[in-house]
Amino acid sequence: MSKFVLVTGGAGYIGSHTVVSLVQNGYTPVIVDDFRNANRIVLKGLESILGKLPLLHEIDVCDQKSLDALFKQYTFEGVIHFAAYKAVGESVSEPLKYYRNNILGLVNVLECMIKNHVNNFVFSSSCTVYGEPQGQKEVTESTPKLLPESPYGYTKWMGEQIIADTFRSAPQLRIMNLRYFNPVGAHESALIGEFPIGRPNNLLPFITQTAIGKQEQLIVFGNNYPTKDGTCVRDFIHVVDLAEAHVRALQYLWKQSAGKLDYLNVGTGKGSTVLELIQAFETKTGLKLNWKFGPRREGDVVEIYANVDSSFKKIAWKAQRTIEDAVMDAWNWEKYLNS
Ligand code: UD1
Repeated sequence: MSKFVLVTGGAGYIGSHTVVSLVQNGYTPVIVDDFRNANRIVLKGLESILGKLPLLHEIDVCDQKSLDALFKQYTFEGVIHFAAYKAVGESVSEPLKYYRNNILGLVNVLECMIKNHVNNFVFSSSCTVYGEPQGQKEVTESTPKLLPESPYGYTKWMGEQIIADTFRSAPQLRIMNLRYFNPVGAHESALIGEFPIGRPNNLLPFITQTAIGKQEQLIVFGNNYPTKDGTCVRDFIHVVDLAEAHVRALQYLWKQSAGKLDYLNVGTGKGSTVLELIQAFETKTGLKLNWKFGPRREGDVVEIYANVDSSFKKIAWKAQRTIEDAVMDAWNWEKYLNS
């Protein structure tokens, strides 16, 4: 029988792509999402890609009672926990909103797992736990964690700590913390993708919205960083590659004969500057983007990219898609949203 996998935040950006990968690998995702930060258009997209609607329960992960009832309804073979807020700036102005949702949601999920004897857990962590890497900009999983710059960052940093403490007391758990670098792009069908609510904070959605005319001009934050062209360097990872990493991570956990607490970087292993992403967009689409330099954004890391040796060794995963694929897929998705 196909394995049931609980996917909290499964209607969100990374969650929805992971739902597709799970189904394509023969598993049965069960989405929990209350659509506070997701759009129902994603359901239509999932239905078209998969041929039918995935199982879906509109539950808030902070609602312990409903979540526990769901754990009783299904026998989950694993849990992938995405449901969380992720806007860095908003987390500074509304920290308690972030601590309530991101921390309480995580605690509830872990409690339900332990209570209902579900052992396999994949957590959406972030390269934000490395802060601004000192010295080497290519970080491995053992690069020291630094204190984050924002409440959002703290929820990931503390999330990993809560998980590690939980593992000490419940060593039967098999846990993979996936540290995402910068997820970009959309499904190649252009039927699902990122759906920023309000003005986008992230770079590629801002680029596509500028190109389509929803935003007037892209401001590139800073031009005098100590990098090859003066703009920040990030490891942009295609969301479909990232989705596949979750499936591999689960398969890895299912193979373990004992409890496990592990961490993996999910990136391409290559850094690209902000200007290089803009250049890739212009080259692939043939469009001229309206952008200009502006002041640095507070709290921005200058340069970071992933060392991905461990991901390859442990879960046999490597990014297959390029930033050129990502900008094209994101652009097709933007056009679909506006059609
Ligand atoms: C941030 C978080 C990351 C989090 C992600 C999720 C930090 C340091 N990073 O990533 O942990 O997972 O958000 O949303 O907390 N840029 C512009 N103009 C724009 C938008 C962005 O120049 O309009 C630049 C930024 O200055 C940055 C790069 O593009 O150099 C990427 O920015 P963004 O997409 O917001 O991602 P991060 O800040 O890297």
